[in-house]
Amino acid sequence: MGRRRRDSRGKGGGKVRRSGLAASRGGPRHPRSADPWAERARREGYPARSVYKLQEIDERLGLFEPGQRVLDLGAAPGSWSLYALKRIGPEGSLLAVDLTPLGVQLPLPGAFRRADVFEMDLADLEPFDVVLSDMAPATSGQRALDQARSAALFEAALGLAERLLRPGGHFVGKLLQGPDLQTLRARLRAGFQSERLVRPRATRADSTEIFLVGLQRRETT
Ligand SMILES: C[S@@+](CC[C@H](N)C(=O)[O-])C[C@H]1O[C@@H](n2cnc3c(N)ncnc32)[C@H](O)[C@@H]1O
Repeated sequence: MGRRRRDSRGKGGGKVRRSGLAASRGGPRHPRSADPWAERARREGYPARSVYKLQEIDERLGLFEPGQRVLDLGAAPGSWSLYALKRIGPEGSLLAVDLTPLGVQLPLPGAFRRADVFEMDLADLEPFDVVLSDMAPATSGQRALDQARSAALFEAALGLAERLLRPGGHFVGKLLQGPDLQTLRARLRAGFQSERLVRPRATRADSTEIFLVGLQRRETT
């Protein structure tokens, strides 16, 4: 995924090191990372800079409380899960789901499930207080195709939230903006007491991503 490859962790770390090698061969000297969010994530022990997007949404809208149950969809490499675990404390519980393994060890046994959200088995899942989705498709470079894939992931996450959130629970989902935006916002307004659109400061300037937030899931009849 293009955006993840630019992060300073994992594979992205390789890119940064290569620029350091170029510098030692007489090329221009660059700081280890020109991205202050990635630098901060590294310092604070998070595997991805995306943690500061969730933190901003949480600080603005108040997502978490101690003791909550959280479902984190598209959780790898694990920054959002680590942040949510801190916020819900030792009484809380979290299930992280991704196609790929996390890059961190979560301090809760059984907190990670390797799965495709389109094929998730919901049979053993209890209701959650918060459902998060930072899922992103593998990018093709074709804007319309990437947007459609992002919308499909968003809809899958929202569908799970509609089934698994307890009344009063919250949903956060990432979407690459496109023609589905207003329809998806209307669906959130129908299912939640309030709906917000957030573009956190840590979002890359060239990204069309936005976060749709549903606060206070309505009672279902
Ligand atoms: C931007 S990353 C998430 C970063 C994460 N929130 C963090 O802070 O570490 C997007 C993730 O979505 C996952 N993903 C994409 N499609 C998925 C699917 N169908 N089911 C589950 N996870 C998926 C990818 O594997 C990738 O790890």
